[in-house]
Formats: sequence, C-alpha cells, structure tokens
Amino acid sequence: LYLWEYSLKFTFQFDLMFFFFNSIILSLGIMPWFPNDIQDLDRFANQILSYGSELDADHPGFTDPEYRARRKEFADIAYHYRHGQAIPKVEYTEAERATWGIVFKELKTLYPTHACREHNRVFPLLEKYCGYRQDNIPQLEDVSRFLQSCTGFRLRPVAGLLSSRDFLAGLAFRVFHSTQYIRHGSKPTYTPEPDICHELLGHVPLFADPSFAQFSQEIGLASLGAPDEYIEKLATVYWFTVEFGLCKQGSEIKAYGAGLLSSFGELQYCLTDKPRLEAFDPDKTSGQKYPITEYQPVYFVAESFEDAKEKVRKFAGTIPKPFSVRYNPYTQSVEVLDNTQQLRNLADSINSELGKLCEALRKLE
Ligand SMILES: [Fe+2]
Repeated sequence: LYLWEYSLKFTFQFDLMFFFFNSIILSLGIMPWFPNDIQDLDRFANQILSYGSELDADHPGFTDPEYRARRKEFADIAYHYRHGQAIPKVEYTEAERATWGIVFKELKTLYPTHACREHNRVFPLLEKYCGYRQDNIPQLEDVSRFLQSCTGFRLRPVAGLLSSRDFLAGLAFRVFHSTQYIRHGSKPTYTPEPDICHELLGHVPLFADPSFAQFSQEIGLASLGAPDEYIEKLATVYWFTVEFGLCKQGSEIKAYGAGLLSSFGELQYCLTDKPRLEAFDPDKTSGQKYPITEYQPVYFVAESFEDAKEKVRKFAGTIPKPFSVRYNPYTQSVEVLDNTQQLRNLADSINSELGKLCEALRKLE
C-alpha cells in the first residue's frame, strides 16, 4: 500500500482513485490517511464540497451570469494550482475593487477599538508591504510571501469548501486554504461564504503572529489521523477560536476570530453585553452547537494564545491515536513518532536547542 501510495505522488489527476482508496481504508476502520509531506496537499485540494461557480439559490450572485462566469475563472486558478507554484495574480475589476473598498473602509474604523493587539500590530505592516489599501485588493501571492517571512504560514488558493479533515490538515503544514474571489457587489456587507475580504482582513493578520500561528498549527497537527468524531470536535474548536474567538487583553476583551474581524456588524455585537461569554476550554468548547447564518449567541474567551495553545495540546492528547506527530519545518513534512530512531532524532534536536538557550542565558547573565 505504501509503495502504491508513493507512486501516486508522482502522477497527475488521481483524485478519483485516491477518493476510493481513502474510502476503503475508512470503511475497514484503519487509520484515516493524512498528508505526510506538504506536496501531499495537492492530492485533496480539489476534493471540494462545492465548486466555485455553483452557487446556492439564495446566494446574492445566483442570477448574475457575469458573476458566475467570474467565479469559474477563480475556481479554475485554484483547480490547476500545485504546491510550489506562484499563486497567479488577478486583475480585479473596478466593481470588485469598489466592493472591497466599502468593506475595508468600514472595518478599518473598528479595528483600533475592537480588534486584538496582534491584529492591530500587523495591519500597518500589511498596508506597508502587501498593498492593503481601500482602492486595491491585495494579491494572494504577495500576502503569502509576507506571511512566510513572518511565521512560515503560506496561502494556497482553493476553489470551494474543503472537508473539515482536509482543511485542518493544511494547518498542520502552516498552509491556509484561501479563496481569491470577492462577494457579490449587490451586498458588500454580506457574504454567505468565505471570500477574499474575509481571508485577507480576518485571517491573514493573525497568521503573521508567531503565537497564533503556532496555536493554529497545533489544531492542524491534532487532526492528523484523528477519528471522525474528533475531527468534528476540532472543527468546532477551530470555529470558536480562529473564526469567532475573543481573548483577554489586560482588563479588556478583544476579538481575534476572522469571522468577527471581517464582519462590521458582528464585530460590534460581539463586544456588547448581548452574547454569552464563556472561558475557552477545548473539552467544553468542542461540544458547543453553533448557528452559521446568524450572529453567535455564545463566544469563548481565551486567556492568551499561549494559554489556548497549551489547552489544545492537552486536548489533542485525549484523541485516540496510536502515535504522536511533529512537524519538521526543514523537510516540510510530518514525522510520525512511532519508533526509537524518530524519538532519538527529536531528542537530539531538543538537546541542541536547549544548549543554545542555556548559552544565551549565560551570556545575558
Ligand atoms: Fe474563515
């Protein structure tokens, strides 16, 4: 099986065959497949639950043939993208830029008072280096390069919605699957699905923060090889943190979730006394039900990203898996720690890092 899988890595368009392979493994109750190498993400990038131009009947662009054709152009870019390539640049139309401008202008007025300090620290850098402006939609490639220089996170264009398992697996490699299209111009303040405003204004600033990047990767690593019911729990943890998280900052509470930071209405609402606030605790948070078409009635407040990361790490330890994994940033691959050689390599690496820490401490003293 391993050899067969390995040979697939070097072939094209085996999506269908891979899908059946995965289904057989799942039905036999064997460990769910997960990507080992960052290039493996190419395998499921096109296994999307919906294709970019197939809109639901209640989508604002459903009856607009021009918008649907444009969505197909974006979907095709994502469909043909492979790891290592530059993300194709897009010439956004004047109307698309106008829609972006409305969203950008409105949200920017709220960030100083409502967004967490990490978001507010990174935002000016995005304006300086990535073309974040009211009259310009930044290019994914430029933003991805910026993120790589900050935390090693990178963007990858996606044509539609991925399954929770696939989407979370991307985070394990510090890869964020990002849409490139923009919402329909008739309703600039509303989108029924993620769009480039949500990704660039909500998600990107936080992925440039080292602590948050590590926290996000921790959720991704926990998902690798996890049983389906735990994928659902982790997707819920993701929802209440990366999408709709609040955090303590001094005596105040601020927003860090992308769903909040990209919604003018909900960003204001979440910090009023209307919603219920609870302390972030993965055991409890992972079982919380939530609506997807209205403002959240409950938010979870993290003490800090460091604290949230430790809690997710502990929660990950309760997921029934016969092995642990670690990400090797040099090879951009996930190492399964299931033999003494791997453990010895890890110990060597920790030993070397600890040596550097001790030396630096001695010099400081
Ligand atoms: Fe999102």
